Amino acid sequence: MAQSSLFTPISIGKLELPGRLAKSATTETRCTEDGFVTDSLIEYYAQIAQGGTPLLITGNAYFDIYSKAGPRQIGADNDDKIPGLRRLAHAIHHHGSKVFMQIYHVGRQAIPRFVGRKDAVAPSAVFEPSLGVRPREITLEEIRRTISGFAEAATRCRKAGLDGIQIHAAHGYLLNEFLTPHTNRRTDEYGGSFENRLRLLLEVYRAIRQRVGQDYPIILKINGSDDLPLRKGLTPNDMVEIARRMEAEGVDAVEISAGHYESGFTFERGRWKGFFSTVTTVGMGTNLPWYHRGSARLLAPILDCGLNRIAGYSEGFNLRYSRLFKQALRIPVICVGGFIHREAMEHAISSSGCDMVSVARALIADPFLYRHMRKGVEGPQCDFCNACYARGAMWPVDCYNEEVRLHRDRMLREGMHSESHR
Ligand SMILES: Cc1cc2nc3c(=O)[nH]c(=O)nc-3n(C[C@H](O)[C@H](O)[C@H](O)COP(=O)(O)O)c2cc1C
Repeated sequence: MAQSSLFTPISIGKLELPGRLAKSATTETRCTEDGFVTDSLIEYYAQIAQGGTPLLITGNAYFDIYSKAGPRQIGADNDDKIPGLRRLAHAIHHHGSKVFMQIYHVGRQAIPRFVGRKDAVAPSAVFEPSLGVRPREITLEEIRRTISGFAEAATRCRKAGLDGIQIHAAHGYLLNEFLTPHTNRRTDEYGGSFENRLRLLLEVYRAIRQRVGQDYPIILKINGSDDLPLRKGLTPNDMVEIARRMEAEGVDAVEISAGHYESGFTFERGRWKGFFSTVTTVGMGTNLPWYHRGSARLLAPILDCGLNRIAGYSEGFNLRYSRLFKQALRIPVICVGGFIHREAMEHAISSSGCDMVSVARALIADPFLYRHMRKGVEGPQCDFCNACYARGAMWPVDCYNEEVRLHRDRMLREGMHSESHR
């Protein structure tokens, strides 16, 4: 197969990558209850690395109890996590790939009792309708602890030999909530003006940079749009302005996504087949109060229909946003969202829509996607049914589409040593 834009090298800061595909962050739910790396987690990542994917971004790592969303999530909250993270880095490096850890704070998009706490924090006490959570306003002292929590987690990543970190400021989690006027109604120095709403993200970034040094890659995941019509959500132009400021601060790359939970999960555009019944019977929805769970179950077909209208699937669904960032920035722009075909990824890059493509679900279905595209082999194809997402934070990340999973397992059993996988 001829060389193409997808298989040409690119640098993120000083880190060189041989190709332009990244595994986007996916909550793994494969750690111990208290966030330690397990063999299951390592096997999962080793497989994707074996498939040749140049850069793997871990699922959202927490650094304290308020930043955490679910048990078995990956933790970067203590130095005792470093040996496990080192093992993870070794396993990935062994196959020639690089690894960044995504660090986040869940903010108000959490079910507090799911992780054994009594409440959730957010910039302001604005009700979160999808989970039915009213958070309390985070205090200034907690903000200070959050900044150092991010910085300490990043320091652990560097000590463990991971190749970089990603700050998660998208999808309606805490850092996104501070940026967005709809969720940030504060009247102190962290709310109100653009500068004030940007302050937490800037302080988190600066604290991390100070701890990890100038040469360590720090990238940002940010929304291309908040997708909050009729509420005070941020537009693509607002987001580009934020990215410009972060570029001037020294951020090494940005990954472009979109939406909050409240937007109708537009960051996960898909086919939403039986989503609400799965979520409320075996997914995270089982932790919701009975009345919330019951009504979601009762209305499941209508709600699925609604999601299909608001957040239906199309390939490269954030490309229209990433193109704007690409025009405004000099650092690499990574576009995530619905990519599965080599042609679509190549087109995204060659038409200046982005510099790199990242993929979550298509790599869950086919961990060898990168190698398969390179060799022109058709592997298991993700259906974007969102059965994986419906089980997120409860079940180990995996493909739960019967047909696709059978295909993948057969491929892994029979094909691991065949020429197409090498
Ligand atoms: C099971 C699952 C877990 C996810 N966990 C995270 C996460 O931890 N952090 C994050 O930024 N995005 C997460 N995402 C979103 C993906 O990173 C990505 O933005 C989204 O799935 C769209 O990309 P895709 O169409 O290639 O799947 C998750 C997606 C799935 C399906």
